[in-house]
Amino acid sequence: MCGIVGYVGGQSALDVVVEGLRRLEYRGYDSAGVALLADGKLATDKKAGKLANLESSLAESPLPAATTGIGHTRWATHGGPTDRNAHPHLDCTGSVAVIHNGIIENFALLRAELEGRGHQMSSDTDTEVVAHLLEEETRGNGEAVDLADAMRRVCRRLEGSFTLVATHVDAPELVVGARRNSPLVAGRGNGENFLASDVAAFITHTREAVELGQDQVVEVTAKSITVTDFDGNPGESREYHVEWDLSAAEKGGYDYFMLKEIDEQPQAVADTMLGRLGADGRLHLDEMRLSDDDLRAVDKIIVIACGTAFHAGLVAKYAIEHWTRIPCEVELASEFRYRDPVLTRSTLIVAISQSGETMDTLMALRHAREQQARVLAICNTNGSTIPRESDAVLYTHAGPEVAVASTKGYLTQIVACFLVGLYLAQVRGTKFGDEIRAVVDDLRGMPAKISDVLASMDPVRALGRELRDATSVLFLGRHVGYPTALEGALKLKELAYMHAEGFAAGELKHGPIALIEDGVPVIAVVPSPRGRGVLHDKVVSNLQEVRARGARTIVIAEEGDTAVEPYADTVIRIPQSPTLLQPLLSTVPLQVFACEMADARGHDVDQPRNLAKSVTVE
Ligand code: M6R
Repeated sequence: MCGIVGYVGGQSALDVVVEGLRRLEYRGYDSAGVALLADGKLATDKKAGKLANLESSLAESPLPAATTGIGHTRWATHGGPTDRNAHPHLDCTGSVAVIHNGIIENFALLRAELEGRGHQMSSDTDTEVVAHLLEEETRGNGEAVDLADAMRRVCRRLEGSFTLVATHVDAPELVVGARRNSPLVAGRGNGENFLASDVAAFITHTREAVELGQDQVVEVTAKSITVTDFDGNPGESREYHVEWDLSAAEKGGYDYFMLKEIDEQPQAVADTMLGRLGADGRLHLDEMRLSDDDLRAVDKIIVIACGTAFHAGLVAKYAIEHWTRIPCEVELASEFRYRDPVLTRSTLIVAISQSGETMDTLMALRHAREQQARVLAICNTNGSTIPRESDAVLYTHAGPEVAVASTKGYLTQIVACFLVGLYLAQVRGTKFGDEIRAVVDDLRGMPAKISDVLASMDPVRALGRELRDATSVLFLGRHVGYPTALEGALKLKELAYMHAEGFAAGELKHGPIALIEDGVPVIAVVPSPRGRGVLHDKVVSNLQEVRARGARTIVIAEEGDTAVEPYADTVIRIPQSPTLLQPLLSTVPLQVFACEMADARGHDVDQPRNLAKSVTVE
């Protein structure tokens, strides 16, 4: 997500902060900014686009010399990637500067309250409310400003996840940070100290780090790092020595960005739901920009997407049709406009794209809009072309995805599709409130279950190494297990450069079963035996069919599903979940398997041959 740097010491704060931001560039971002405390005033500069834009601006209009400063690279969530939405954000008096990573869930309420008390907002961000709240909490009463105490009081009012770093003109040589569900680490130097969203930002200055705990505030001066909880009690923090080199630090100690991104999935899924699942069990998609009347008028949905995003669309079809009873088609964006699809004003196109720049998807959505259809984008990149050209957008909050192979992008696309399906069901009344609430509760439980899957991946990694010399791997699934099979095969193709195919398990006997011979690895995704038991039994039969012909069967099955055991050479267990939500769990071992196999075959996992992260040609 966003990159954060804070500095107090004897060096040029601007140099340290900009260098830190450069070290965080790998995370991806869409704007950058700095604020320096110089001569009792705040000096700021911020620019949309690359850090180089900010650097050119700073070269043209230099800021005064300072030894206290903060800096930010933004990955837009609330408000497009523009100069005015770039961080830092200031209060009305220009006394406080704030940078932020995460999402402040109750910002709309806080913003309305602040505006009611006369505050002027100058951005569309959720972050800015914090600057104005700090303004109120530090307003002169003759006493010295206690920025840390103000921050604690503000944090107690915030909902959501956040890392915040602030500086105040009346609290010189001090930077204050706070965190909840979002990373923040302090760096202990000699006569200087640092704050950052990860150690890569300060590793060239110090390797002594202080890891902050949940719901903590940290006060950083040149000489001290003081940690408290949100109530002001001394906070526990962990001091450690950073062993990584710079490149490892950028990847958070992982060998590949892909591994890091796989592990970020519980958080990415949770962030994508944040602020959208109300405590009352209702969905709130405030930023959707399509009215309830528009949504009630929809008589057909067509999902368009490419690659992994297309597989998310296939999952969406099962959920949307089940919950809303609206016919839903899914089409490869590259094929869509060439078949002259039947579209009307009542057709809702759902365009899914992690990057928001995929040319095939963009051309398909332009075609749809020319035919008067409405387009809802599901996208991870705020301000990119696809959401800009759509009637409505629902952003996934996966944060930047650096590895070419999509992982957290995919799971969050599936979650966003579920949110769209449930929202349509809510608006159109095709599901009772308590039915929607039950799914919402299940969704809330998914991040913890994804973490459980991730914690049990050692046997999957061993399997990836063991099968490194296979010439082909086949994947089987039914219902939502079918897109999971397709996604497992795509991951293996793009990373391990190995022949891999995903099949609808029922289709096997119509041809593909001829591929089965002794030792061919077949990975089967088995649905839950609960609920749709018929589906489960059918996949188990398909499993028997391939095993009888010599396949080596690897089975992804729910905990407690003993029926698969007689037909499985290897069983990979996932937690129990409703069938529709199962792809959020069953996909994870397939990502890990492909990544491990690619590494075992000596491939560049993050940048597979011939592939680009963003495919901007048709
Ligand atoms: O950025 P998009 O989601 O539009 O990208 C679509 C595909 O190019 C993308 O999912 C591709 O298939 C990935 N490399 C899969 O891992």
